[in-house]
Amino acid sequence: MDITEAIKTRKSIRKFKTDPVPREIIREILETSVRAPSAENTQPWEFVVLGGTVLENIKKANVEKIRNYELPPKEMEHLMVTRPKDSIYRKRQVEIGMKLFELMGIAREDKEKRAAWLERGFRYFDAPVAIIITMDSALPELGAFLDIGMVTQNICLAALKYGLHTCIENQGVTYSDAIRKYADIPESTKPVVSIALGYPDWDFPANRIESEREPIDNTVLWRM
Ligand SMILES: Cc1cc2nc3c(=O)[nH]c(=O)nc-3n(C[C@H](O)[C@H](O)[C@H](O)COP(=O)(O)O)c2cc1C
Repeated sequence: MDITEAIKTRKSIRKFKTDPVPREIIREILETSVRAPSAENTQPWEFVVLGGTVLENIKKANVEKIRNYELPPKEMEHLMVTRPKDSIYRKRQVEIGMKLFELMGIAREDKEKRAAWLERGFRYFDAPVAIIITMDSALPELGAFLDIGMVTQNICLAALKYGLHTCIENQGVTYSDAIRKYADIPESTKPVVSIALGYPDWDFPANRIESEREPIDNTVLWRM
């Protein structure tokens, strides 16, 4: 697959088949992905690859916490993304949510179905693998986040070579305490973002989503 096709093919997948993903393939994906650039080659990323019982335990803990409306630990507050009311950013956020609900046949007022949908994200959309990208807590977040964004996109693109798809998720690192408890990660690192990884279930309605992009003419100032 050529690079343009890969970039255009990648999309967020929100239901996966149960087929396991061989560790060797995950390793190859990560080996390719860490060719990502980073400021002064700092490579601020580390990975925790979750599967099997560990992943099941984290999913269960996440779902329990969200059902009890438990607030995330303080250290994750930077990921609680907010958009100014009435802004274009908020509009886009609402649009993608409405599109997903429409595909899934979830009515706005159907609290039960909405809650069930929310839980799916906290279960890593039932992917057989979730990759948690962590960083050393001693590093400033600002630069590290840019670099981690690059390796994150690389993982999503590199996965396509193997027929694997992804969903980048803030939801998956909301409860970093659950990750700490079950994945036994070093105290000095903190989870930044998660990626659900697996073979897509193309029969699942939400996987038909085609997210919009602002036309380039609205986002570029040509000064050349
Ligand atoms: C940093 C980041 C966090 C995200 N977190 C979530 C999430 O928690 N749950 C979810 O369903 N999608 C999440 N997404 C996926 C976005 O909703 C998705 O990328 C966006 O709507 C564009 O759609 P596309 O990925 O299909 O092109 C996240 C994406 C990024 C880049």
